Amino acid sequence: MAEDTGANVEIVQLFAIIHDSRRQNEVTDPEHGPRAAEFAAELRGSVFDLEDHEFRLLYRACEGHTHERTHPDITIQTCWDSDRLDLGRVGIMPHPNRLCTEVAKRRETILWADGRASFFVVPDFVSVKWGVELEG
Ligand SMILES: [Fe+2]
Repeated sequence: MAEDTGANVEIVQLFAIIHDSRRQNEVTDPEHGPRAAEFAAELRGSVFDLEDHEFRLLYRACEGHTHERTHPDITIQTCWDSDRLDLGRVGIMPHPNRLCTEVAKRRETILWADGRASFFVVPDFVSVKWGVELEG
């Protein structure tokens, strides 16, 4: 997605791993986005580093990912679309009206993403780059 939209790939990858990391439950937890944004601030400088303007984008992406519809910045749009395109993991087909970027709104993108999400596909870079062992 990030390569197709022109978003900052590093920010989108950090968003992917951080944005739901402060969830307290999987049902209702409306403040998990703001908590994830604060957690990103704690990790900055030790686990990862970003320039100030890049970190502001990551922070805003995490903070607003559940409540906000869209944002003028393409990197934040890509973060939110990536998250919403993964709704197949909970049995929800993403709707184009709830997506931000033209890439994400394409029917072929939605079908591709829904197929991956429905089968809990995890990209190889998650285990290679981040050292996360995935259960088979
Ligand atoms: Fe979330």
